[in-house]
Amino acid sequence: MPATSQCRICAGTVREFIDFGRQPLSDAFVDPAFRPEEEFFYRLATGVCGDCRMVQLMEEVPRERMFHADYPYLSSGSTYMRSHFEDIAKRFLSTELTGEDPFIVELGCNDGVMLKTVSDAGVRHLGVEPSGGVADVAAAKGVRVRKDFFEEATAADVRRADGPADVIYAANTLCHIPYMDSILKGVTTLLKPTGVFVFEDPYLGDIVERSSFDQIYDEHFFLFAAQSVKEMAARNGLELVDVERIPVHGGEVRYTLAPAGRRTPSAAVAALLAEEEARDLAGLATLEGFATSVRKIRDDLVALLTRLREEGKTVAAYGATAKSATVANYCGLGPELVAYVSDTTPAKQDRLTPGSHIPVKSPEHFADPYPDYALLFAWNHADEIMAKEQAFRDSGGRWILYVPDVHIV
Ligand code: SAM
Ligand code: TMP
Ligand code: ZN
Repeated sequence: MPATSQCRICAGTVREFIDFGRQPLSDAFVDPAFRPEEEFFYRLATGVCGDCRMVQLMEEVPRERMFHADYPYLSSGSTYMRSHFEDIAKRFLSTELTGEDPFIVELGCNDGVMLKTVSDAGVRHLGVEPSGGVADVAAAKGVRVRKDFFEEATAADVRRADGPADVIYAANTLCHIPYMDSILKGVTTLLKPTGVFVFEDPYLGDIVERSSFDQIYDEHFFLFAAQSVKEMAARNGLELVDVERIPVHGGEVRYTLAPAGRRTPSAAVAALLAEEEARDLAGLATLEGFATSVRKIRDDLVALLTRLREEGKTVAAYGATAKSATVANYCGLGPELVAYVSDTTPAKQDRLTPGSHIPVKSPEHFADPYPDYALLFAWNHADEIMAKEQAFRDSGGRWILYVPDVHIV
């Protein structure tokens, strides 16, 4: 009998299709003086609901273990992502936020990478961000932040204090939240009847197409697709009125929901739904095929790194991403195969990667001297990183990628 769990959207039966085994928290970088018994592990496995077709984790990690004062991820770490968020802020400012005294709320505003542009334009806004450290960084930029988890009660409170919102926005945050019922009730409470709820998250279609299994980790509870988002919206009096495929973080979709019946769905919605139907995106056979590709990637990557070690080559990794926790722990990588990981985030440096205990070093270390090979954990920022690290290539260095398959460039 395959393992099952209860769907967090519709209470239907979720059937497991891939198991990554025992995994640590993806953003819990450990102090080198840690006590092993203090490291938290859970079972990472993913399944699909037979009723609403939502792909989701089989087990949930308590939110306070992931999002707290020391949550290390800073959204402004990538130049490309900074301009991506500036663009969407400007788009809101020239479309949805042009009425009288408009108001936008962002869930998971992190270091203020998007709301800074709204704040600079003098438009009323609020970021709801539970991770205190990153919320402080946003506040220091002049962004108005409430240090809290967004949920139904928070939404009611914000509405009482600030009135209803024209736009509620969330990037790489909604898929982190298992308690979707409370979130969507909160959105309905806070949104004006004429307002929109816009969110962007990794797209199941891209994950399956590229076998990008590292998009699966504790924080990514849901892997959304147009079909499942449409269902989830409809259960809460909302309607999927637009979708836009965006080329960030390895392929995402930006979904727009509106109160049911208020806006006419765009042609893009019907087109994406038809495409998902045609490829049977959430079908068990498709997802089991994905699992087979993932096992091959693991075997190929371990074989390559083992061969390079036997040949006496030096290998480091680049970007201590949350995603890479799944890769390192599923493939059993440790400091004997990957000497260290280079990363720009101060809160990750001089710590060890969760579970796999590979030292994290600053980018200066990467050039001193360059390794023979660099395993690109931050493959979603490949263009930006490869351009920045041209000197590594010029010195004879080679990049190892494992999406969509294991290859060297
Ligand atoms: N929006 C930023 C971006 O796209 O780069 C940050 C994304 S970060 C991966 C996810 C953020 O969601 C974290 O800063 C976390 O603290 C926040 N978060 C988690 N649960 C939340 C909730 N219930 N309400 C609001 N924010 C939440
Ligand atoms: P992300 O894939 O979740 O955005 O995480 C990217 C990680 O990679 C983050 O820890 C910052 C790091 N990074 C670098 O070290 N150098 C870079 O040039 C970029 C873009 C990211
Ligand atoms: Zn379901």
